[in-house]
Amino acid sequence: MKVLVTGGAGFIGSHTCVVLLENGAEVVVVDNLVNSSEKSLERVEQITGKSVTFYNVDMLDEKALDDIFANEKVDSVIHFAGLKAVGESCQIPLNYFENNFKSTINMLKSMKKHGVKNLVFSSSATVYGKPKSVPIREDFPLSVSNPYGRTKLVIEDMLRDIYEADKSLNIALLRYFNPIGAHESGLIGEDPNGIPNNLVPYVAKVAAGKLECINVFGDDYDTPDGTGVRDYIHVMDLSEAHYAALKKLEENPGLVTYNLGTGTGYSVLDVIHAFEKACGKELPYKIAPRRPGDIDECYADPKKAREELHWEAKRNIADMCRDSWNWQSKNPDGYH
Ligand code: NAD
Ligand code: UD1
Repeated sequence: MKVLVTGGAGFIGSHTCVVLLENGAEVVVVDNLVNSSEKSLERVEQITGKSVTFYNVDMLDEKALDDIFANEKVDSVIHFAGLKAVGESCQIPLNYFENNFKSTINMLKSMKKHGVKNLVFSSSATVYGKPKSVPIREDFPLSVSNPYGRTKLVIEDMLRDIYEADKSLNIALLRYFNPIGAHESGLIGEDPNGIPNNLVPYVAKVAAGKLECINVFGDDYDTPDGTGVRDYIHVMDLSEAHYAALKKLEENPGLVTYNLGTGTGYSVLDVIHAFEKACGKELPYKIAPRRPGDIDECYADPKKAREELHWEAKRNIADMCRDSWNWQSKNPDGYH
């Protein structure tokens, strides 16, 4: 199996490359390194002892992308590439629309031209908006409240339309909940630019002494301890789900949609306390105002993925915090 991994130098992409290589797949990566470093791929090779073919190409460059399809003759594509920061997407929505839509359209045109039928797409639990209840099932209504989320929902809609027009395609829409953690080796992990927006990278920086204090965004939510509840999933579990999805696509299932979460919600305070255990020290935090757009609770019903992909998350919150801390402490400046 030869797989083109778009955005493969990024956080989830690099971990998925490890899983693919360990399962005997050939891996070709296209990434323009706008939010990543080529070092991640060197580390992937170090972990697996196998090589990755890397193209430093912007997927907005239709011709350069098409040349990769022409040269490599891949069987499947996993499409991670995209811009992903919610706050930034509200500041520069047009960049998000141009980057995320155009890169996807260029990829789909090349897939059609070169007869590549199997696609796994990185969607997000953000497409459920403010869910009417939890746990969230795949058939819940979809809505979004920011430009980043809109790119996910519109691309999902595009893929549903394209599938209706060509039933020979096999497409897996994977809706990730909150990916955290790192490869157990501590060689690859999440390396956000600047001050992290997401909870666990922020907590890790506080634990490392690089930021002073964790701001807990609201303690008056309708949750057991008043802080927001999310479904954190270990990035290695998530990566293994991508391999399971590729195997599923080999059965010609058509278009399929899966939640990728553990099914268990943890509050902000639960996460801080789990991280304290992992790093062996108390972490300073204070209650701050709610962050606009945040919801009380978000966690998956993971039953469909369990039954149809024969996959379920195996790693718990302690494992996730241990591995995030291991990566942070071994790489205080990320890949730099
Ligand atoms: P990431 O930023 O680490 O990886 C995305 C990669 O895409 C980066 O390496 C970036 O350089 C590359 N890229 C962006 N635009 C490109 C372009 N035009 N051409 C070539 N490469 C380009 O992000 P991640 O956390 O690994 O997320 C991967 C995917 O999963 C994204 O689509 C993201 O929206 C989605 N997702 C992520 C999360 C999360 O919390 N991390 C949650 C839900 C969905
Ligand atoms: C974020 C994205 C969402 C994306 C998801 C997947 C935003 C607004 N949403 O979701 O689109 O699909 O990541 O990874 O960025 N928190 C704090 N202090 C902090 C940071 C976060 O208390 O410094 C709280 C938040 O209020 C929330 C929880 O921690 O309750 C998780 O936040 P975060 O890690 O940013 O993820 P989400 O907001 O769930």
